[in-house]
Amino acid sequence: MAPKRPEDLRSHRWYGVDTLRSFGHRSRSAQMGYTRSDYQGKPVIAILNTWSDINPCHTHFKERVEEVKRGVWQAGGFPVELPAMTLSEPFQKPSTMMYRNFLAMEVEENLRSYPADGVVLMGGCDKTTPGLIMGATSMNLPAIFMPAGPMLRGNWRGTTLGSGSDVWKYWAELRAGTIAAADWREIEEGIARAPGHCMTMGTASTMTSAAEALGLTLPGAASIPAADSRHAAMAAATGRRIVEMVWQDQKPGDILGPDAFHNAVTTVLALGGSTNAIVHLVAMARRANVELDLMRFDAIARTTPLLANIRPSGQYLMEDFFYAGGLPALMSRLGSVLKLDCMTVNGATLGANLERAQVFNPEVILPLDKPLVAGDSLAVLYGNLAPDGAVIKPPAAAPNLHRHRGPAVVFQDYRDMAARIDDPALVVDANSVLVLKNAGPLGGPGMPEWGQLPIPKKLLEKGVRDMLRISDARMSGTSYGACVLHVAPESYVGGPLALVEEGDLIEMDIAGRRLSLLVDDAELARRRAAWVAPAPRYLRGYGALFAQHVTQANLGCDFDFLERGAPTPDPDIF
Ligand code: FES
Repeated sequence: MAPKRPEDLRSHRWYGVDTLRSFGHRSRSAQMGYTRSDYQGKPVIAILNTWSDINPCHTHFKERVEEVKRGVWQAGGFPVELPAMTLSEPFQKPSTMMYRNFLAMEVEENLRSYPADGVVLMGGCDKTTPGLIMGATSMNLPAIFMPAGPMLRGNWRGTTLGSGSDVWKYWAELRAGTIAAADWREIEEGIARAPGHCMTMGTASTMTSAAEALGLTLPGAASIPAADSRHAAMAAATGRRIVEMVWQDQKPGDILGPDAFHNAVTTVLALGGSTNAIVHLVAMARRANVELDLMRFDAIARTTPLLANIRPSGQYLMEDFFYAGGLPALMSRLGSVLKLDCMTVNGATLGANLERAQVFNPEVILPLDKPLVAGDSLAVLYGNLAPDGAVIKPPAAAPNLHRHRGPAVVFQDYRDMAARIDDPALVVDANSVLVLKNAGPLGGPGMPEWGQLPIPKKLLEKGVRDMLRISDARMSGTSYGACVLHVAPESYVGGPLALVEEGDLIEMDIAGRRLSLLVDDAELARRRAAWVAPAPRYLRGYGALFAQHVTQANLGCDFDFLERGAPTPDPDIF
């Protein structure tokens, strides 16, 4: 394809023509201190920056955006920073997941309504990555993703601390009385001590790695710690590259085919990535008009070895992963399992990008013949309790629970669970199955990360550290345990989970991929007839829009009116 000419640029209609409106665009640019030579005939690069005072994972984005801009200027582009919703995982309630689609809409509409020729997507904290990519995919302008990068290792008295995983671990120890409140306070101050996103293989590291495996970042970008000077250099390189991408008209639609999603799913599984990636990748694929269902994840999981020895599945953290060679090194281990012909944003194929990749520490990035887990790092379960599927991460579950039958201890919602879980009178033992209802896309709402239900205190004190837990919620990628998640359809809309009663026997069999409620059909029919749909949670605003249009977990929780389809036409400029 012939490269674009300046008059072919989308922004030309704003800046380059001689009309009353373009006079306004130029005169108001002059008001901001720009002259025509700053932008005329140059690609306008939107930089969608999810920086915010309330997002600790993106604190360095104020500096990084300047480095991206430097790269854009160097390559002959005109950078325009546009703030976008930050989705701060620790602070936003009820769940950042509720607002992922909001960010995706904001991205799409920002790009459509302003004179952008290409876009740099700056994100990293959990849902920002899929939100940014979903919006950019729907808009289909040249786009490149700039990952926030993980933070450095946490530290407490010389002990390495990992985001999330060590929170759950030491919270359990505090409740069991094996560490003191003063220890807990010190852990609080040492666990997040540098800019960047969570540095375990949580959702952030999983999704930025998925973005790289899809071909949407420069090679190696996802693994560089935020505090490393190479991260700043990568930001400038990203700025330079997007300008070239505009001239070459390289768009997400040219990159995000079925093979790219195969690579992303395979890589996520080899990393021992977060279960959240399933929901996000399904949604991202549907935006790109690519078929990707839960069975595909299960099929790839059966044969993909888990090679990244990173917490919570393994031992190390993202900083170690970077020093060991980072994502390109891990992907080079996978070799021909990946579709190496896929094109990536640097204009080369994935195979070409991996040619120089090397593993520097085989303890962190394991050899193919010594994986952490040979296969089944993820399992998709079906049965009368989850007709549309549920997921579990077998390596994170105690082996004795991989096949389990036990009586249900039922919590109607999170509030009920929080009020009763540590009640000494709760009838529960290590064999029980903890069931949480109303925590799904609509019930949560926003499918919060409540799926790692806490072990009841009285069992913790007896040394119990894992139990079978079932919910329609998600689970943080930094969590672990025998947690069956994403049960679909969810209980709030009358899925079978809604019909579970105290003491019902539940059976899970990971090898058989089964999740069964051992109650006969006649009794379930009686319960269904008596079931009363909960009242709507939102009568107005974004919550009402969300409730009307969000899809179930197995379909990616996108809005039904945003999936698939061609981009909406550009606005007229009169
Ligand atoms: Fe932002 Fe974990 S809190 S990635």
